[in-house]
Amino acid sequence: MFKAAIVGCGDVSIVYAEAIAALGAEIVAVADLDHAAALKLAQKTQATAYFSLQELLAQETIDVLHITTPHDQHIDLALMALKAGVHVLVENPLANELDQAQRLLDYLKENPQAPKIGVCFQNRYNVSSVELRRPLEEGELGEIRGAYASVVWTRTSDYYSAKPWRGQQIRSGGGLLMNQAIHTLDLLQWFLGPVTKVRGEVSTDKYGEIIDVEHSAHAFFTHESGISSSFYGTLANSRHRSVEIELDWENALVKLKDGLTVTWINRAESQVEHYPERTQNSAGRTYWGVSHELLIRDFYGHLDSAKPFWIGPQEALASLRMAKALY
Ligand SMILES: NC(=O)c1ccc[n+]([C@@H]2O[C@H](COP(=O)([O-])OP(=O)(O)OC[C@H]3O[C@@H](n4cnc5c(N)ncnc54)[C@H](O)[C@@H]3O)[C@@H](O)[C@H]2O)c1
Repeated sequence: MFKAAIVGCGDVSIVYAEAIAALGAEIVAVADLDHAAALKLAQKTQATAYFSLQELLAQETIDVLHITTPHDQHIDLALMALKAGVHVLVENPLANELDQAQRLLDYLKENPQAPKIGVCFQNRYNVSSVELRRPLEEGELGEIRGAYASVVWTRTSDYYSAKPWRGQQIRSGGGLLMNQAIHTLDLLQWFLGPVTKVRGEVSTDKYGEIIDVEHSAHAFFTHESGISSSFYGTLANSRHRSVEIELDWENALVKLKDGLTVTWINRAESQVEHYPERTQNSAGRTYWGVSHELLIRDFYGHLDSAKPFWIGPQEALASLRMAKALY
């Protein structure tokens, strides 16, 4: 049985606690600089609480570390664990800044035998993503013409005042694009190919007196193939709308919104196919989706393989670069 630990015992950590327990691994330790947060998660998971990762690694023998801290801590903590011989699954975005991410990539290049590292882009495991990759890889969709994506959600001032790092550029490296829309940016480039050019704007719009990160953004991405995608996002809406990605292929109009809807063009039968998304089954928030567990299970399933995990730091760099280019 794999022995796991979690560093960062805040909001998202409970999703990890549930997923790790569900796959039969043991959470032996948790760590947080905030003693109350560490003790609370330790009690829930029957694990030992530590108040720093250094202390945890000195005292425990673990196979996997899950990093669920603010973005500016991801790289230092990941390097600390890898150097201690521990596999790492780190939350997204990979880092708050590109030069931080580069430190990790340099280390991995110089240390090809380092333990495994994965980055949590769980939406690649959604039904909509999996069902779309199949016809895409088989070439059934024809030529891509373009795409549109939107993330229109709501975040109140309480969201930032409860965890101030989320609204501080120096810690989070950005707002909407880094914290909420990073999954949508990742999917856009995964479906349409690498992005070579970025135009657009970001704005604070709301809560400018308490945050210095963007609350809204619009962007126009040019992909390596020459086609374009456009993006609009805001956290200033009065309620959450479902994330939407619409892809315009020669043979089908494809919409990812609460599942996948494929409207085939010029096909006599089964003109519209719909694949509903899985529904919530964990303590996580609905807008995080329900695929954390699938990614975590897949990561553990690959720990004994010689190959790197398929969503590693290099893969995670693409969406981070898109956000940073827009800034
Ligand atoms: N994949 C997703 O859908 C998803 C969803 C939510 C959050 N996240 C990511 O998870 C991370 C955490 O988000 P959150 O909302 O749970 O944050 P949070 O603020 O609720 O929790 C973070 C915790 O980390 C602790 N911490 C900070 N620095 C530390 C350090 N050096 N060592 C130990 N503990 C430390 C804090 O005290 C806090 O308790 C972020 O990177 C976020 O982007 C991803």
